[in-house]
Amino acid sequence: MDPAASDSRAPDLAVVIPVLNEAPNVAPMVECLRAALGDIAWEAIFVDDDSTDGTREAVAAIGRQDTRVRLLHRVGRRGLASAFVEGALASFAPCVAAIDGDLQHDETLLPAMYAALTEEGYELAIGSRYIAGGGLGEWDRTRAGMSGFATRLARVVLKVPMSDPMSGFFMLRRETLLAALPRLSAIGFKILLDVVASLPAPPRIKELPYQFRTRSAGESKLDAGVLRDYLMLLADKVVGEYVPVRFLMFAAVGALGIALHLVVLRLSLGLLTAHFGVAQSIATAAAIVANFWLNNFFTFRDRRLRGLAMLKGLAIFALICSVGAFANVSVAVFLFSPVVHEAWWLAGLSGAAMSLVWNYAVSSLFTWRSWRRA
Ligand code: GDD
Ligand code: MN
Repeated sequence: MDPAASDSRAPDLAVVIPVLNEAPNVAPMVECLRAALGDIAWEAIFVDDDSTDGTREAVAAIGRQDTRVRLLHRVGRRGLASAFVEGALASFAPCVAAIDGDLQHDETLLPAMYAALTEEGYELAIGSRYIAGGGLGEWDRTRAGMSGFATRLARVVLKVPMSDPMSGFFMLRRETLLAALPRLSAIGFKILLDVVASLPAPPRIKELPYQFRTRSAGESKLDAGVLRDYLMLLADKVVGEYVPVRFLMFAAVGALGIALHLVVLRLSLGLLTAHFGVAQSIATAAAIVANFWLNNFFTFRDRRLRGLAMLKGLAIFALICSVGAFANVSVAVFLFSPVVHEAWWLAGLSGAAMSLVWNYAVSSLFTWRSWRRA
C-alpha cells in the first residue's frame, strides 16, 4: 500500500460526496481529491442512497487501502440535501465541504475555500458559476434558463445576496452548519440555499468562480421531481415554521378534489341522467381516486407507491377518507344545533377542516408510511 495514500491525523476537513449510481466516477474522484488537497488533513465521506451499479463496492475498495475514504450507506432514502447533512454529521472535522461525485465541480478550488474559512475569517465559501471567471460549461439554453429562474426565485427566501444560491459546491464551518440545523428543511437538491436561509444571522460569504464541467460518465439525476422539491423547499422556508408544507399540498389537492367532485356530479346528473345517489357515489369515487393519484404523485412523491402497493394504498386511502367523511358530518351536525343556525357555513367548514386534518394525519401514517422501503 502506498503510504502517501493514507493519513493518521484526525481530519480537519470532511468532504461530503452524495452519490447515486456513480461507480465509474468514484476512483477518479478520490484521485482528484488526493491531488487537490495536498497538505490538508481530509476525509471523504461518500453518502450512497442504495446505488445498484456497484458504487459502494468501488468506495469500499479504496477505503480498505485509504482510511480517509469512508462510506455512509442509506437505505430507502433519497435526496441530495439530506445526504449531505447526514454525511456532514457523521464527521467531527471543523470544516465540511459539499461536492458532487460526478467530477462536474472543480475540486482544485477546495484549498482556496479552506483558506477562506481557516485564515480569512469567512464562515461559508461558495463555488459560483455566476461571477467573473465562472461558467455553466456545456449547459443547453433550457437548463441555463431554468437555473437562472430558480436563482431569482431564491431571493424571496434569502436575506443575503448570493450570486449562485443553486450551487451544490461549497464549504462551511461545522459551527455554521450546526447553527442552521434546527431550521433546516433538507428537502430535495438545494442544500446551500437551505443552509443560508436557516441561519439566524447572515454568514460571511466568500464566492469563488468555477466552470461547471461536463459529465463524462454516468447520468444526471435531475428530473421533474427536482422542481417540485425546490418549490417545496422555498415554501417550507417561508411558512414551514407555522404549518408543514406537505399539509398545505394535501389541502390544495383536497380542494381540487371538491371541484372535481362537483364537475363529475353535474356530468353524471346531466349526461347519464343518473339518480342523485348514484351520481353522488360516482363523484365521490372519482374524487377519491383522483386525490389518491395526485397525493401519490406530488404530496408524497418521495414515498410514492407503485404497482400492487399502489392498489393497496388506494384501498387504505379510500377507507381513511370514509372515516374522515363520517367525522366531517358528525362535527358539522354537532356544531350546527347549538350554534345559531345562520352560522351553517361555520359548522360546515369546521366539519371539512376536521376531516382534512384526519385524512392527512392518518394517511401519512398508514397510506404513505415514511418507513416503507422505496
Ligand atoms: N446520495 C444521493 N442521493 N446522491 C444523489 C442523489 C440522491 O438522491 N441525487 C443525486 N445525487 C448525487 C449524484 O450522484 C451526483 O454525485 C450529485 O448528487 C449531483 O447529481 P446530478 O444528478 O449530477 O446533479 P446535476 O449535475 O444535475 O446538478 C448539480 O448542479 C446543480 C447546479 O445547478 C448539483 O451539483 C446540484 O447540487 C447543483 O445545485
Ligand atoms: Mn452532475
